[in-house]
Amino acid sequence: MPTYAVTGATGRLGRLVIEQLLDTGVPAAEIAAIVRTPEKAADLAARGVEIRQANYDDPSTLPGALAGTRRLLLISGDTPGQRVAQHTAVVDAAKLAGVERLAYTSILHADTTTNPLAPEHKATEEVIAASGLAYTILRNGWYTENYTDQLPQYLQTGTIRGATGGARVSVATRADFAAAAVAALTGEEDGNAVHELGGTALTFDELAATVTEVTGTTVVHQDLSAAELASALEKVGLDAGTAGFVAALDTSIAIGELVTDSGDLERLIGRPSTPLRDAVRAALA
Ligand SMILES: NC(=O)c1ccc[n+]([C@@H]2O[C@H](COP(=O)([O-])OP(=O)(O)OC[C@H]3O[C@@H](n4cnc5c(N)ncnc54)[C@H](OP(=O)(O)O)[C@@H]3O)[C@@H](O)[C@H]2O)c1
Repeated sequence: MPTYAVTGATGRLGRLVIEQLLDTGVPAAEIAAIVRTPEKAADLAARGVEIRQANYDDPSTLPGALAGTRRLLLISGDTPGQRVAQHTAVVDAAKLAGVERLAYTSILHADTTTNPLAPEHKATEEVIAASGLAYTILRNGWYTENYTDQLPQYLQTGTIRGATGGARVSVATRADFAAAAVAALTGEEDGNAVHELGGTALTFDELAATVTEVTGTTVVHQDLSAAELASALEKVGLDAGTAGFVAALDTSIAIGELVTDSGDLERLIGRPSTPLRDAVRAALA
């Protein structure tokens, strides 16, 4: 029976977690990949990982998928508005299955931030705390890839537009956050823990300078108001709701909500987070 279970295992973070569990020497037979779409997990199955199908939206699928596992990573869902019910179903199933420790991917400062993504994470954390399960909350900061995925646009326009007001944002790669999740799953931590996870804290000026240095193409940061950014995003085709939402995420950076100097990430993974320069190089390759 597998010891470790990872939900969202066909997602970008989940795949890295499974990869890194294997890299740390956990036998494939000890890992259950909990997936919504088993066809997407053929490569994991080929490596000997046990594929178990479950859908957060169908609670009846969850207890069987978690049966016998002892350490569960619940990777937050990607459907805003549905996530508290989805995550609650997983927590309930984990209790039924006798899971000994649950780790959950939350957001930086989930209990205090005004970030529009935070209320569902905060509510999930409360459900977990009330469940009686031993838990590790991984309050993840922004993925570096949120920016490096935009390199083609940055290079094409010569501009990084934002509404962060020159504030810093703590970024780390998905691989760094996956390493933290692996440490939480495989560690011998007693009791409950909440980790504020973030790597390099950078301003968008620094982001632009690094992109310029690594690519050799001059890219400058253009700081807009949130309203200006939303309007610019609408002009390139985003609907008003999405544009406002994206601008609100930058506002959260502007007021210092997506930065941490806790050191929790480095401590958990036993190394510094991936430097931005390296992440930009990797994105170009
Ligand atoms: N910190 C950040 O900057 C940041 C940025 C974006 C997202 N996030 C959060 O971090 C999570 C993981 O990131 P990621 O990059 O790995 O996202 P991702 O690549 O979109 O993966 C999301 C995973 O969730 C699974 N999933 C979605 N709905 C499900 C359902 N109803 N039942 C079962 N599984 C379901 C997906 O399954 P399928 O493979 O079948 O689609 C996929 O495996 C996201 O879901 C989101 O909550 C954080």
